[in-house]
Amino acid sequence: MTASPDPSLDAAGGECRSSASEAPVPRHVAIIMDGNGRWAKGHGMPRSEGHRRGVDVVRRIVRRAVSRGVAYLTLFSFSAENWRRPPDEIAYLMGLLKLFIRRDLADLHSSNIRVRVIGGRDDLSADIGGLLMEAETLTRANTGLTLIIAFNYGARQEILRATQAIAAAVARGELAESAIDEATFARHLDTRDFPDPDLVIRTSGEQRLSNFLLWQSAYAELVFVPVLWPDFDEAAFDDALSQYQSRERRFGDVAARNR
Ligand code: IPE
Ligand code: IPE
Ligand code: MG
Repeated sequence: MTASPDPSLDAAGGECRSSASEAPVPRHVAIIMDGNGRWAKGHGMPRSEGHRRGVDVVRRIVRRAVSRGVAYLTLFSFSAENWRRPPDEIAYLMGLLKLFIRRDLADLHSSNIRVRVIGGRDDLSADIGGLLMEAETLTRANTGLTLIIAFNYGARQEILRATQAIAAAVARGELAESAIDEATFARHLDTRDFPDPDLVIRTSGEQRLSNFLLWQSAYAELVFVPVLWPDFDEAAFDDALSQYQSRERRFGDVAARNR
């Protein structure tokens, strides 16, 4: 007798299905990790302590994303606008990123996780740029979760970089103006190798995108969670996935049952 098919796979054997629901788990989850400062303030601690605890939550959520069968996880870690913060907070956040890569890169690699980074590289210090490159290079051939770190990332800046690259290609005669379509544009974004996010989660109760993946989130499902990032946990992540699974994505079409 042949074994019954794995219930976590769909007919095509591709998409991961949750045991709790027939709806697929999102292939790409992107998270705006917000609320570290408010968490620290609420606990009578310096903002830096909120950021430090936030890194522990990153480790837990990466593991959970792997076990839930998410293929791409993007984490908004430092925005292009976060340079407006006080210099000591910026220095602390830069230090945390360095520490995270130094401490966790070997573990990520042994977990078959592929690390990628999106955002501007030019205004990063040489040591941070080098560490980010090292993480990408070491894990390049891994086939498990793709962990995308959005660092010094801003969607408008990314869209402008893409526009400049496309304009340069047109000026060189390599690309016809009439050939610029959505696929051409997407190929010039930092996210060119990844599918669009299916689910964008923002913690802390704020309900805005703050310049995160504006092009790519055109049809993402948005889940706003009132929990501050240092208090976000596996159960909260699972709950956001369940909310996603209860949504009906129509992409402008009419629902099949209403046709
Ligand atoms: C998110 O927490 C972390 C970063 C933006 C780097 P915040 O630092 O924004 O925390 P709040 O929003 O001030 O509470
Ligand atoms: C967005 O959070 C950036 C990150 C989570 C890295 P912010 O705290 O910077 O966003 P605003 O300023 O409240 O919109
Ligand atoms: Mg914030």
